[in-house]
Amino acid sequence: MEGHGKFIKIGKSFCVGIVGLGEGKGLLKGLHGYPELKVMGICDVNHELVDELKRQFRVPYAYDKLEDMVNRDDIHIIVINTPDQITY
Ligand SMILES: NC(=O)c1ccc[n+]([C@@H]2O[C@H](COP(=O)([O-])OP(=O)(O)OC[C@H]3O[C@@H](n4cnc5c(N)ncnc54)[C@H](O)[C@@H]3O)[C@@H](O)[C@H]2O)c1
Repeated sequence: MEGHGKFIKIGKSFCVGIVGLGEGKGLLKGLHGYPELKVMGICDVNHELVDELKRQFRVPYAYDKLEDMVNRDDIHIIVINTPDQITY
């Protein structure tokens, strides 16, 4: 995959999970319809957001805890987009 709407073929298919649906929502939109990287799961502590995006993008699985997504064996790649916890 390449940025800004261009795709290159990987030659293999992977199932993706996305955690944190701020920046992660952009990735979800970008991968929509891309056959080699199928978004199988999304996760966010914001239940309304995760439910809305599950419906909108027809994502099979939605979670509010990363641990539950990690336990799936049909998700190969998990992209973490949660905020940094460091405070200065
Ligand atoms: N906004 C940008 O332009 C941008 C660009 C590149 C990278 N990033 C990085 O992406 C990360 C997230 O930034 P953002 O702008 O999307 O933040 P955001 O606050 O807009 O979104 C973060 C999302 O993560 C969810 N979340 C928080 N803790 C969670 C948890 N424990 N489990 C599941 N979901 C959780 C929140 O509910 C929220 O929907 C940061 O590390 C940031 O540095 C942001």
